[in-house]
Amino acid sequence: MTNHALPSYLNSEDLGPWGQYLKQIDRVTPHLGSLSRWVETLKRPKRILVVDVPIERDDGSIAHYEGYRVQHNMSRGPGKGGVRFHQDVTLSEVMALSAWMTVKNAAVNVPYGGAKGGIRVDPKTLSKGELQRLTRRYTSEISLIIGPTKDIPAPDVNTNEQVMAWMMDSYAMIEGNLSTGVVTGKPISMGGSLGRREATGRGVFVTGREAAAKRGVAIQGARIAIQGFGNVGGIAANMFAEAGSKIIAVQDHTGTVVHQGGLNVAELHKHVAETGGVAGFPGAEATQDRDSFWGIESDILVPAALEQQITAKNAGQIRTKIILEGANGPTTPEADDILNDKDILIVPDVLCNAGGVTVSYFEWVQDFSSFFWSEEEINARLTRIMQDAFNSVWEVAAEKKVSLRTATFILACSRVLAAREVRGLYP
Ligand SMILES: NC(=O)c1ccc[n+]([C@@H]2O[C@H](COP(=O)([O-])OP(=O)(O)OC[C@H]3O[C@@H](n4cnc5c(N)ncnc54)[C@H](O)[C@@H]3O)[C@@H](O)[C@H]2O)c1
Repeated sequence: MTNHALPSYLNSEDLGPWGQYLKQIDRVTPHLGSLSRWVETLKRPKRILVVDVPIERDDGSIAHYEGYRVQHNMSRGPGKGGVRFHQDVTLSEVMALSAWMTVKNAAVNVPYGGAKGGIRVDPKTLSKGELQRLTRRYTSEISLIIGPTKDIPAPDVNTNEQVMAWMMDSYAMIEGNLSTGVVTGKPISMGGSLGRREATGRGVFVTGREAAAKRGVAIQGARIAIQGFGNVGGIAANMFAEAGSKIIAVQDHTGTVVHQGGLNVAELHKHVAETGGVAGFPGAEATQDRDSFWGIESDILVPAALEQQITAKNAGQIRTKIILEGANGPTTPEADDILNDKDILIVPDVLCNAGGVTVSYFEWVQDFSSFFWSEEEINARLTRIMQDAFNSVWEVAAEKKVSLRTATFILACSRVLAAREVRGLYP
């Protein structure tokens, strides 16, 4: 890796997901032409806020949690990116996720910079009241830097419409106005957008359909394996099943279920709602241990859980034709090389899962005008944006003879750095 002037606040021996992102930037730099003069901008987040989030627990004790909001780049517009509640959240992870948002927003050409937030907490250990207090205190701590024209959070792992409603309400109380545009992914009853909940999964499906057409894989009857059965993986499963594909394997944090004839996706959703995970699903013909999931032969593999899941250790086992990165950062650069050598087509996260932020953008626009669109209109606009972005990336990849990931980074980083150049440095 190039010797980046590494920040003193990360462990230079183990940079975590931020190191993965820096390697991706190294790969795109030779393709940036004269804009490479500005590339250091992409290797340093613009602003990082670390906050202490204290709450009173139901038993009367006081608990403290670590919270973050990172604004990676705002050359093209206000910050935009989700908030993650997870016990393994680190600064490196939030930095990488914020940077991938910069790239993603530029790749689909929505007028946002990149940001991300998180709290280092396992929300399953909190009551609903504790979760609400945590969310409200976190929002007040980061209210210094968020706002409808500054930085707009959204849901990510373990956060949902309810969490967004609490965030909006807390911000509105602090500001003394309604401020619906401060977060997206809100409930429909308070300024949310139709189609937002399904948007990321729908985008995964749309880019998957485009990739399948390029590779000559028929969606009808395609065998799909999915890791993660939450918002992204669960909705993508529905859409592929509706299109006639067979969901042959699903893995989540509780286990792996397999059915070569195709799992009944509606029944699996019911089972997850009742039990909290896919483990023990009676409609599976087999279960697998965690690692052998990657060896299941499929036509399309969808990692839709967490980052750094496909590594040099398991990439060799993977037997599929197309990988759709629903999750952010699921593939390490070393695994990327192994998969590219095996001629597996990877639709990268920064393109594949951009459907969520695209409909978040629609939600924000609708909130500003207080005029709401129909679901058909939203889905049609989303589909068009995802198809256009996929095809633009495909052309760059063909022209430069690079992977879809590098092509997406070329397109996106050029847009970000061109904005930086034309704005110039302040003062
Ligand atoms: N929600 C969005 O709109 C959106 C948009 C873009 C990208 N993403 C990314 O998609 C991924 C999933 O997000 P989500 O919103 O669906 O979250 P979610 O909380 O709804 O679901 C997460 C899923 O991952 C599973 N999981 C967690 N740890 C696992 C493990 N160790 N092994 C296997 N499965 C595991 C969980 O069981 C769950 O099924 C994340 O990387 C997120 O950043 C989400």
